[in-house]
Amino acid sequence: LAQDKKWRIGFSQATTIEPWRAQFNKDIIAEAAKHPEVELIVTDGEDKTEKQVADVENLIRQEVDALLISPKESAGLTGVVQQAIDAKIPVFVLDRNVETDQYTQFVGGDNKLIGRAAGEYAVELLGGKGKAQGNVVEIWGGMGTQPAHDRHDGFHEFTDKEPGIKNLLDQQSGDWKQDQAYNIMATALRNNEKIDLVYGHNDPMAYGAYLAAKDAGREKDIKFIGIDALPGEGVTWVNNGELTATFLYATPGAEGLRQAIKFLNGEKVEKTVTLDTMKVTKENAGQIMKEKGL
Ligand code: FRU
Repeated sequence: LAQDKKWRIGFSQATTIEPWRAQFNKDIIAEAAKHPEVELIVTDGEDKTEKQVADVENLIRQEVDALLISPKESAGLTGVVQQAIDAKIPVFVLDRNVETDQYTQFVGGDNKLIGRAAGEYAVELLGGKGKAQGNVVEIWGGMGTQPAHDRHDGFHEFTDKEPGIKNLLDQQSGDWKQDQAYNIMATALRNNEKIDLVYGHNDPMAYGAYLAAKDAGREKDIKFIGIDALPGEGVTWVNNGELTATFLYATPGAEGLRQAIKFLNGEKVEKTVTLDTMKVTKENAGQIMKEKGL
């Protein structure tokens, strides 16, 4: 059987404790199953930079034909990605970037665009362009990641133009985690009598904030916006009326592997592949769930 395998492809995942990454792994493993010529080796960084660095070093030692990596953070993974590049292994960076552009390809969503869409919608929810009024709680993802910065910057391109919008927090990071966002929101609720909108850099954090507001009996006064739109999570929470909206951040699992195989087969690949997004509100959430069999 092993002789049939033409390509050994390593995939270094940052963590699997977050639902979006569990889905990401499912997507890449399902795609690999469609390619009998590919042996896919998946590692789990367990949400620790040191562990993920060791994983990549291991894959380099195994002389994989291509390396796919979704880094936990940019700075800490740049060195080892460079090592792979120096070892002439084609590198495909997925979802979060590193601080070099010498990789073969980047595949992921456009976080600036998603942030802008979220900001534009927040302005609409708070009364519309030029008239928006409200106190906003923003809960950041991991500070060392580009998606968090892009999601922040895009959002503020819209909300910062509104004199009636006030930002209640300054760079508070929930590190993408629901429980950390719950705690940030619980404190914000204690410190602020009026909160109108929460922007979580992902759905688990928007939902954690929702749960904190619910426990304080204030969830009805607040709009919650998240990002990811996993059918069983964000989309379901929107459909339940818990979140007001979420924006699709598709996992690059299937596309990333397809691109790597294309490259290994000698075809040209683009430097960047950008995955589509969409806004999910009560209007389309139910339909999306139906399409996914939920
Ligand atoms: C999962 C996650 C997603 C988020 C992405 C950003 O680890 O936090 O929820 O959209 O990473 O890189």
